[in-house]
Amino acid sequence: MDAGCLKKAVLGCAVLVLLVVQGANGGDFPLYPPIVPLPPLVVPANNPQTAAKIELGKQLYFDPRLSGNNWISCATCHNPVLGFGDGLPRMLGGPTSREGGRHSPTIINCAYNEFQFWDGRASSLEEQALGPIQSPNEMNETLDNVVRKLNVIPGYAKAFKEVFGTPVTADGIAKAIAAFERTIVFANSPFDRYMQGDARAMSESAIRGMELFMGKAECIVCHNGPNFTDNQFHNIGVPADGPIKEDLGRYNVTKNNADKGAFKTPTLRNITDTAPYMHNGFFPTLFEVVQFYNGGGGRSENKSADMHALHLSTQEVEDLTEFMKALKGELVQIKYEAIPLAYPNLPKDF
Ligand code: HEC
Ligand code: HEC
Repeated sequence: MDAGCLKKAVLGCAVLVLLVVQGANGGDFPLYPPIVPLPPLVVPANNPQTAAKIELGKQLYFDPRLSGNNWISCATCHNPVLGFGDGLPRMLGGPTSREGGRHSPTIINCAYNEFQFWDGRASSLEEQALGPIQSPNEMNETLDNVVRKLNVIPGYAKAFKEVFGTPVTADGIAKAIAAFERTIVFANSPFDRYMQGDARAMSESAIRGMELFMGKAECIVCHNGPNFTDNQFHNIGVPADGPIKEDLGRYNVTKNNADKGAFKTPTLRNITDTAPYMHNGFFPTLFEVVQFYNGGGGRSENKSADMHALHLSTQEVEDLTEFMKALKGELVQIKYEAIPLAYPNLPKDF
């Protein structure tokens, strides 16, 4: 069955999808991976989670000394009080706080991503972590220098010895930060509780929105599976905005023409915390995002065949938005014993 045919089957069977997704029908119906609560996180065998490593990763994540001017930390752009983003359309980084071309995505549930970055140029969190440190537009530091700086801080030297049995290394920095990021998991949203049998966890409007999401509005075509992403790349025609005239997205990685202007389908969990939206922060509100989809997306020669006008009523647009609000979960606190370090002082809650 080809993709178009598959889609027709899905729409024709929207009701059946609903039954399958809700678990009322135990049958096997291999359409889009259903939207369901998150499964336990799979941790790579070469970087097991330990309390001491997570604590070290947390210190590194909040430490501006990882940057060239000792000013910018990961949390500058992935700030816990801003939904682990920065609340800006596009990041500000580098020594002169220049505006970059892309929106800082949240790191909430990024441990579930098959690809990191809007264009998927990294896959593992370990691989990703050293990128921003070295990028001239972000933290603008060399790995040699950061390793040298941290090695002379007694707290770090001691912690690396304890966790990795070595002095500070770039590999250790990457592993510790990745271990910390694997604790930033948000779950137990109204949607999750509804799916687990609490019929009152979502409002009637959100429930209607969920049906639209899986049916008439076709969002599930791309935002599917427990983290609301197919881990694929699509061009939905988001207009250019900001310093980059034309962002080719996934094409920069694959050099495949079909990938021009395609970006990773982002998670929709905790989406109310991470405005503005899209790879360049083009849309300030969820309402505008839904209106954009309602009109069939933007204009692009290379636009996905899955984008077309949806003919949603005003009430339906509102219901879809309500459903997305119900995806706001809470940090699943994983308690580990903290190992005090000499430096630095950290925010109390993290
Ligand atoms: C100056 C702002 C800035 C800083 C500092 C920064 N990031 Fe980012 N981060 C971004 C932007 C912008 C992107 C998206 C870039 C792209 O897709 O090309 C991103 C992407 C990511 C992603 C991928 C998320 C996803 O869903 O694709 C992760 C994970 C991440 N950053 C973690 C970190 C870590 C860890 C640090 C510190 C070592 C860090 N970032 C420092 C701005 C920043
Ligand atoms: C053809 C695949 C596809 C379909 C269908 C689709 N999306 Fe998306 N969605 C994406 C991609 C890809 C992006 C990121 C695009 C970009 O930044 O250029 C995105 C971005 C978003 C964002 C912004 C997320 C963020 O963190 O910035 C929201 C919200 C969203 N979609 C909701 C929806 C809703 C609601 C529907 C159904 C009406 C829908 N999507 C249908 C692929 C899709």
